[in-house]
Amino acid sequence: MDPLQTVHLGPRKKRPRQTSALVASTPHDIRFQGLVLFILEKKMGTTRRAFLTELARKKGFRVENELSDSVTHIVAENNSGSDVLEWLQLQNIKASSQLELLDVSWLIECMRAGNPVQMTGKHQLVMRQDYLPNPIPDPQKTPSLAVQKISQYACQRRTTLINNNHIFTDAFDILAENSEFRENECSCLAFMRAASVLKSLPFTISSMRDTEGIPCLGDKVKCIMEEIIEDGESSDVNAVLNDERYKSFKLFTSVFGVGLKTSERWFRMGFRTLNKIRSDKSLKFTRMQKAGFLYYEDLVSCVTRAEAEAVSMLVKEAVWAFLPNALVTITGGFRRGKKIGHDVDFLITSQEATEEEEQQLLHKVTKLWEKKGLLLYCDLVESTFEKFKLPSRKVDALDHFQKCFLILKLHHQRVDSDKCSQQEEKTWKAIRVDLVMCPYERRAFALLGWTGSRQFERDLRRYATHERKMMLDNHALYDKTKRIFLEAESEEEIFAHLGLDYIEPWERNA
Ligand code: CTP
Ligand code: MN
Ligand code: MN
Repeated sequence: MDPLQTVHLGPRKKRPRQTSALVASTPHDIRFQGLVLFILEKKMGTTRRAFLTELARKKGFRVENELSDSVTHIVAENNSGSDVLEWLQLQNIKASSQLELLDVSWLIECMRAGNPVQMTGKHQLVMRQDYLPNPIPDPQKTPSLAVQKISQYACQRRTTLINNNHIFTDAFDILAENSEFRENECSCLAFMRAASVLKSLPFTISSMRDTEGIPCLGDKVKCIMEEIIEDGESSDVNAVLNDERYKSFKLFTSVFGVGLKTSERWFRMGFRTLNKIRSDKSLKFTRMQKAGFLYYEDLVSCVTRAEAEAVSMLVKEAVWAFLPNALVTITGGFRRGKKIGHDVDFLITSQEATEEEEQQLLHKVTKLWEKKGLLLYCDLVESTFEKFKLPSRKVDALDHFQKCFLILKLHHQRVDSDKCSQQEEKTWKAIRVDLVMCPYERRAFALLGWTGSRQFERDLRRYATHERKMMLDNHALYDKTKRIFLEAESEEEIFAHLGLDYIEPWERNA
C-alpha cells in the first residue's frame, strides 16, 4: 500500500471529521485467533485506551470495545488484580478461571514483538492457583522478548510514543541539547543514541541489571542512569539546567531564525533576555528573525493536531486550485502520530504535472495566500535536484527538492467555529509550515526522509552505509556493490531493498 495514496482525496470530497479511534478504526485482519482482548479504561484514560486499541488492531489482535463472553484477556493499567475483579463484579460479570487479567506491560511487549508474547507472573494481575506458564497460540513461534537482541540502529527498533523511560530520556535529551550548544558532537551523539534506545524499550528500567544487553549505553550514560535510579535525579542535568550558557541558548534558539551562531554572538555580547535583544537598536536582524520575534508567542506555543488538520485543509485547497490531482501528504511528527509539533510539514507531488507546472506550484500557492493576507513569512528555495547524482554521504545532509519555509495565518474559525465570537481578541494564530515539492518518482524517498524522526533517519542512512554498502538520502537509494539506483514506489519497498522489516511511521519516534 502506498501511504501517499491513502490521503489522496479529490478536492471536493470532504474528509470525515476526526473521531475517537475506537469508532473510526478501519477493519484490520485478525492474525491471532482465539485471543480476544478487552482493554480497561479505568485509570488508563480514553485517549491511551483508544491509542492502544488501534495499535493492537493494526498488529492483528482482536480487541473488543465492549466486555463480552468472547473476551479471553483483560488488559489493565495501574489496577491491581482485586481492582479489576471489583470492577468486573460491578459489571455483574464473574471472572471465569479462563479469563486472564493482565497488566498493560504484557500488551506493550506484544506490540513490540508484533505477536502475543508469553505471559509470565509479572504480567498477571491475579495469579491462578493452577498457574503454569501458559503458551499462547503463536503462528510464528518467535523467541521470547528476553532473548531478542536490541539493535544499535533505530531503524531496526519500533519506537512508539509510549515511552516507559521518561525519567532517563528527559535527562539525556537535555544533556544532548547542551552538548549541541557547546558544539561537542561526540557527546551529543552519545546522549541522543542513549535516549533513542531507551525510548524503544517496552519496559521501565528500574535497576542497572535491566540495562544488560542494551546497546548504545556507554559508561558515562550508565553512571547517569545509576544516579537517577538512586537519587531520582542527575547532578549533571541539574548543573546544565542552571547553566547560564544553556539557559541563554535555549531561550535564543526558541526564536525562529536564530541558530547556534547567532546565539553564541548574543551570549558573548552579554545578552540574557529576549526583551533586551528585541529592543536593542544596534543589533541587525534577518528577515527570518524579525518574523521570529513578531510572532514569537504563537510560534513557541506548539501546533495542536486540530490546528495541523486545519492547515492541511488550507494547503490542499490551495494546491488543488492549481493541480487538482496533486498528492498532498502530511509528514514530520504529525505523520508519526504526535499530538503536537513545532510546525506542520507537507510533501507535495503530482503524477501528471509537467516540469514547468511542478516548478510553478509553490510560487502560485504562496502568491494566492499572499493575496488573501495569510502569508506572514515565506522563504522559497528552488530545487537543486539532479536525477543522476549519488545520494549524499552525510547523515544530516539537506535535500535538494524545491521547498518553502512559511509562517501562515490560521484563523481560529478554521479550527473551531465557536472561538471567533469576541471582536477585540486576536482571531488567528501564526503557524510554521514547511512545504516540499518532489518529482513523482522520488515520492517514496522524500516521504521516508521527511517523516523522521531525525534519529530514525540518521540510523537508516548509517545502516545503509555500514550494513548494506548502499547510500540513502531523501532522493534515492544507490547500491554501491551493484552500482545501480534502486527504485521504489513506496516506503515498504525501500525497507525491503535495505533488508529491513517494515517500520510503520508511528513506530519511528526514535
Ligand atoms: N528534514 C529534512 N530536511 C530538512 C528539514 C527536515 O530532511 N531540511 C526532515 C527531518 O528528517 C525531520 C523531518 O523532516 O525528521 C521533519 O522535520 P521537523 O519539522 O524539523 O521535525 P519533526 O519531526 O516534524 O518535529 P516537530 O514535531 O517538532 O516539527
Ligand atoms: Mn515538523
Ligand atoms: Mn519542519
